Amino acid sequence: DGSLRAAARGTGVRIGTAVDMSALAADAPYKQAVAREFDTVTPENVMKWEVVEPQPGVYDWTAADQLVDFARKNGQLVRGHTLVWHSQNPSWLTEAAYTPDQLRTLLRRHIFAEVGHFKGRVWAWDVANEVFNEDGTLRDTIWLRALGPGYIADAFRWAHQADPKAVLFLNDYNNEGVNAKSDAYFALVKQLRAEGVPVQGYGMQGHLGVQYGFPGTVLENVRRFDKLGVKTAFTEVDVRMVLPPDAAKVQAQAEGFGLLLRACLLAEHCVSYTVWGFTDKYSWVPGFFDGQGSATPLDENLQPKPAYDTLRETF
Ligand code: XIL
Repeated sequence: DGSLRAAARGTGVRIGTAVDMSALAADAPYKQAVAREFDTVTPENVMKWEVVEPQPGVYDWTAADQLVDFARKNGQLVRGHTLVWHSQNPSWLTEAAYTPDQLRTLLRRHIFAEVGHFKGRVWAWDVANEVFNEDGTLRDTIWLRALGPGYIADAFRWAHQADPKAVLFLNDYNNEGVNAKSDAYFALVKQLRAEGVPVQGYGMQGHLGVQYGFPGTVLENVRRFDKLGVKTAFTEVDVRMVLPPDAAKVQAQAEGFGLLLRACLLAEHCVSYTVWGFTDKYSWVPGFFDGQGSATPLDENLQPKPAYDTLRETF
């Protein structure tokens, strides 16, 4: 068959998508496309802390379990996303309500509960998401303020204890090329591994935009993480544009998708390439970036754009 999934077979790189659970439930062609085109899936939202622990100690795995079951039925692996982040945390989780010691206990409990719940069913976890600023300093978050920089190592140790077989990733955006942010990750990974902290993967989200140009040093960057002995992955690829689209933008977009996939295929330990939604019908982009959109490989009618063909041909 002519699917992305078939094209990826045998390359060592899995092809994935973020999945919107409302669309999966309501839209049969969407659901069929998820099953046909991809061999790994990431929940776009339903494994985030605000969804899985709406009240302290009260868990709701319903939607996440549905995705994990869907993946199993379709022979797909699951990328778990995400355990410690500054965003999409429950509203009860504030610095005003808890002491630093209590926050540490809550984070530990959250990681053990979530990774434990999905033990053996989640292939890879984005353990820590977006921990650095663009200049390579640690992002000022509830976790850094309350717990200090050691929260990152703690999160990885806890996740590893809860599921020793899951592949544990750092994950961020604007860290695809060599720059201050990816330099900070390089130093962090080196340090954590020297200390025996179980970090096994470096995730690059890959949220690009045709109007910004694309990083020229992606392969160089991926290869230096290769040499550190960690796996790499493109975890949330989309290539947005200022609307309306035109032929030049759509062609540039295809090149952006291809650039990241080529780097992944040429790297030794790049294990997956995941798009953050595969159809413009459900993409997060228009809601987050004013005046931008058309960021995925299929249009609103699930018809392929040049980016889709580029992905298939690049594999
Ligand atoms: C986005 C989702 O796509 C949206 O539906 C949600 O409202 C906000 O989060 N980086 C990440 C993802 O790691 O979790 C984000 O997903 C996009 C940016």
